[in-house]
Amino acid sequence: MRVAFVGKGGSGKTTLSALFARYVAARGGPVVAIDADINQHLGMALGMPESALPRPMGTHLTEIKEHLRGDNPLISSAAAMVKTTPPGRGSRLLRLGEFDDPVHTRFSAITPDGPRLMVTGPFEETDLGVACYHSKVGAVELYLNHLVDGAGEYVVVDMTAGADSFASGLFTRFDMTFLVAEPTRQGVGVYRQYRDYAADFDVPVAVVGNKVHGPSDVAFLREHVGDDLLVCLEHSAAVRAMEQGRPFTLGDLEPAGMKALGTLLARLDAQEKDWWKFGQQAVEFHLRNARAWANRATGEDLAAQIDPGFIFGPTRVSLPR
Ligand SMILES: Nc1ncnc2c1ncn2[C@@H]1O[C@H](COP(=O)(O)OP(=O)(O)OP(=O)(O)O)[C@@H](O)[C@H]1O
Ligand SMILES: [Mg+2]
Repeated sequence: MRVAFVGKGGSGKTTLSALFARYVAARGGPVVAIDADINQHLGMALGMPESALPRPMGTHLTEIKEHLRGDNPLISSAAAMVKTTPPGRGSRLLRLGEFDDPVHTRFSAITPDGPRLMVTGPFEETDLGVACYHSKVGAVELYLNHLVDGAGEYVVVDMTAGADSFASGLFTRFDMTFLVAEPTRQGVGVYRQYRDYAADFDVPVAVVGNKVHGPSDVAFLREHVGDDLLVCLEHSAAVRAMEQGRPFTLGDLEPAGMKALGTLLARLDAQEKDWWKFGQQAVEFHLRNARAWANRATGEDLAAQIDPGFIFGPTRVSLPR
């Protein structure tokens, strides 16, 4: 199951991604936490020393593409593989659990509380947007497009809300999106924007209120986001102490915070996987990107990369060529 944490700058995406990843790992599920934000802080929030951070995916895109394309005859080279290029017969798919494939062994590192961390590496504003061929966050889209995950296996992505995820289709690669909102007008403003865009693509979104102080904050959120409000986290003294440099483990989190994390996990687990929709949207966004910039950038007709005989998901049955 894949989940994205999105929201306004400073709302708590990184904090909640890290807490949730730790919570899921403590329950035994394999969990990969991916830092796909411009400001790379997820490693720190997972208690990872800077010196132990994994190799950034964003600066090794060619290597990742070479692995993923395998011997898929529709993808002529790594250079012709763009962030939206979908897998087909011959592509190498990724699984969670063993983590013995070259992508996980080379680009992930185990954090002290168990989650495996992957990072895009820091990126510039110029890395964002549909026209960017070398987008580092494209590594995450490629990863998710080639990942076959099942129930009880988790990927948690700390995302940048905004242009790139909408333009490329990254925002459609998740089973669930948690929008972190502080109880402020700006906090709920981002929600409206995201909800309207997500609704057009049937992307499930739930709001997580954060840094909430008391019932009037909850009422404010409820008034503005209605039933999309899943749960609220209060301002946490334990999180603040961690920010002040105190050692932190999940057991330090207040009981209400633990309960809220449980609500998030239950919501994610309740979401039914829809591989058919996932495949349709992969193709749709690839065609859009091909037309918008990628055909021109690669000098190829990238619509030809779509393998109509490939079936997304855990099924082993795909049509013979
Ligand atoms: N529930 C909470 N209780 C106490 N402090 C919190 C809580 N959630 C977030 N914070 C604090 O708020 C600040 C911003 O949080 P965080 O870095 O997680 O936000 P972000 O959305 O990832 O920000 P950015 O957009 O800069 O990446 C941090 O100092 C963090 O410790
Ligand atoms: Mg952050």
